[in-house]
Amino acid sequence: MNTPKPLRKAVVPVAGLGTRFLPVTKATPKEMLPIVDRPVIQYVVEEAVAAGITDLLFVTGRAKRALEDHFDYNGELERMLEDRGDLEKLAAVRGPAQLARIHYARQGTPAGLGHAVLCAQSHIGDENFAVLLGDEIIPSDENVLKKMFAIQEQYGGSVLLLKKVPPSEISRYGVAAVKSTNESSIVEITDLVEKPSLTDAPSDLAVLGRYVLNPAIFEILLNTKPGKGGEIQLTDAIQVLARDSSNSSDTKVHGLVYQGERFDTGEIFGYLTSTVELATRREDIGVEFKDWLKKFVQGL
Ligand code: G1P
Repeated sequence: MNTPKPLRKAVVPVAGLGTRFLPVTKATPKEMLPIVDRPVIQYVVEEAVAAGITDLLFVTGRAKRALEDHFDYNGELERMLEDRGDLEKLAAVRGPAQLARIHYARQGTPAGLGHAVLCAQSHIGDENFAVLLGDEIIPSDENVLKKMFAIQEQYGGSVLLLKKVPPSEISRYGVAAVKSTNESSIVEITDLVEKPSLTDAPSDLAVLGRYVLNPAIFEILLNTKPGKGGEIQLTDAIQVLARDSSNSSDTKVHGLVYQGERFDTGEIFGYLTSTVELATRREDIGVEFKDWLKKFVQGL
């Protein structure tokens, strides 16, 4: 049995090619697209750190150099800002490099999310770990990851984040079959299907891009054959855990049914609405931007 250790490691797969955003993603990682003045990935890393993660592994691929530079120091720029006495900008530039211990593993071929997680095996070892998808922003004040960590501690095994989605969106997600527990926001996951058609979907509960996984997942991933889209799917490996009837605490899978906010920046429409919503919440430009936005909408 796996000895529980505090959750401190997270894996962030970022090797995707970002084809939905071409041509901007030809040389710029999609995770580096800005939401106002911070790249999407910074929001994700800050969320992980706010939940207590101290060690992050980015699973990267080609053309992701900008991402590595963003989470590193930039001596020349820092000296220039120091000389100018611009301490606010200096803090903004240093901040990303000081968030956590950041490591990189390279996913040679983009063979799917399951394959990306498998690339983290030697770094994670036998600890429970989190996986955060780099294009979904969940505001840190929702404390979603912390709640997932608490559920993992209570029930063992793995924990997924679930959200009800309308029928028109179901085939974009992994979808869970669930049984209720005596806590209304926590369910036991009994089966999972990756991107089902509406008729094959076992429920309307979609898997969002936050996972807490037991290291038992690695052995399963090693034997997981390519699934949807010819890729090694993380959902297919978690399905093996969910269907396991041994009742071992390592293989149980629970879900936190989430009703709060989530910004999906992984496609153009979601990226635009996320940018607008998050810009309106900014302390510096939020009020001014909202005023402009109201006038703009009235003029449409
Ligand atoms: C991935 C997973 C899917 C999950 C989704 C959440 O899909 O494969 O199960 O529901 O993330 O955003 P992707 O969006 O990478 O195609």
